[in-house]
Amino acid sequence: MKINVSALPLAEQKKEALIVFFQGSENLLPSGNNTLKKQLETLLKKSSFKGEAGQTAIFPGAESQIIVAGIGKANTFHNGLLEQAAGAAVRTGQAAGLKSFAVTATIKLKEVSEADYQLLVGRGACWGSYEYLKYKTTKKKKTTPTLSFAGTIKDRTAIKRAQAQGTALLSTADVANGPGSDSTPENIAQWAKEMAKENGLSCQILGDAELAKKGCGGILAVSQGSAKGAKMIILKHAGTDKKAKPIVLVGKTVTFDSGGISLKAGKGMGWMRYDKCGGMAVLSAMQMIARMNLKTPVIGILGAAENMPGANAIRPGDIITAYKGKTIEVLNTDAEGRLVLVDAIGMALDFKPAAIVDVATLTGAVIVALGSAAAAVLSNNEKLTQSLISAGATAGERLWPLPLYKEYTDDIKSDFADLCNISKSNGAGTATAAAFLQEFVPEDIPWAHIDIAGTAWLESPKPHQAPGATLFGARLLAQWILQK
Ligand code: BES
Ligand code: ZN
Ligand code: ZN
Repeated sequence: MKINVSALPLAEQKKEALIVFFQGSENLLPSGNNTLKKQLETLLKKSSFKGEAGQTAIFPGAESQIIVAGIGKANTFHNGLLEQAAGAAVRTGQAAGLKSFAVTATIKLKEVSEADYQLLVGRGACWGSYEYLKYKTTKKKKTTPTLSFAGTIKDRTAIKRAQAQGTALLSTADVANGPGSDSTPENIAQWAKEMAKENGLSCQILGDAELAKKGCGGILAVSQGSAKGAKMIILKHAGTDKKAKPIVLVGKTVTFDSGGISLKAGKGMGWMRYDKCGGMAVLSAMQMIARMNLKTPVIGILGAAENMPGANAIRPGDIITAYKGKTIEVLNTDAEGRLVLVDAIGMALDFKPAAIVDVATLTGAVIVALGSAAAAVLSNNEKLTQSLISAGATAGERLWPLPLYKEYTDDIKSDFADLCNISKSNGAGTATAAAFLQEFVPEDIPWAHIDIAGTAWLESPKPHQAPGATLFGARLLAQWILQK
């Protein structure tokens, strides 16, 4: 999707489709646009369109078709709904064979600033144009669609950011949707290397031998049952602020999670190819940060491994040694994400970071708690929690805090090693997993963990997106770095 600005009023844009947003029955067109407003009134009298969130309708027009897209009522609004409405509008248009779209440069919506509107709508339109076609043998012809912001825009920063972020999302989408046979640790590492080169990031990759030499027994324990080796992928954005300590973003990148010897039930196991989505969000965020030339130095670390029950697989009861020496009794090989993450967090600490944020599809329990409406955030630092929640609200990716009580830490003490990788008493799965990670972070380093197990992918189509990876986390991480 190519985004541009065009001074003419929306109705005069010679585009295949004009997109108009609605909050319930109210159109959100800014002042002016009177002919279009009248036209819409007539069209909508005979339509079932109610401006509900995710709802769209398409009407033939004289020069251009008109696509209306709803964001729902004011009392249920959050920024994600505007981004999704833009995505849904583009998907509706593309389904009708349309390639050029226009929206107004501003909107009559008090909840959202002009710049945020442009970022959300531009990025949402990009994401709405995506289709995963790699394994379809009847190929569609790919032409790049366009989105024009109609009107005069003095400051084009938000438009440029929308393009940078939209491009980063689109370029990561195929890797994120790739099956375990294709998006392997090795292929992801190779992809990351090329992406880094194109975007001016530096990239370092550690394979099995280097990880063994360093003593990264967590990630290696996970991958030892697989024929595919592990990779620790480290990306660096230098930034222009030479005095600042780096922020480190860590992503769980389990390319397929069978559960290992603690094998998962067969039903739906194919979705576990999306267990790499924390890493995919970090990969995409790093590209966004590079493309926006943000001043803050940022490091992205992906712990990439496959969790399989091969002959050399780790067994329940085995004791492993993580990077920096802590021992872990592995009582359930399906609680593998935390084993990968603690090595990656250990490596993050080597950079003397200002803060560490990890993103992971870590627990099924977070789906019980929050469904797909929000991701959970758990942290050792209240200020960090609040700044992430705020960035998430702006970026349209909601976070909800869960506590890290001492009880959860007490429950992961082992009789045979320092820690045990699951809780002795069942319950609070998301908090227990976070409490485990916290044991590897010194108290004075601000750290937050974001559990995206419920938000990382869609299993059924939504108006704004086909089933597949959402790249949830990328938008909020980029926004959070941007706000620094
Ligand atoms: N990858 C899963 C978590 C998951 C579950 C992500 C469902 C997305 C959807 C993780 O590795 C896992 O299996 N966690 C276990 C932990 C348990 C064994 C303590 C879980 O959540 O059941
Ligand atoms: Zn697992
Ligand atoms: Zn997993």
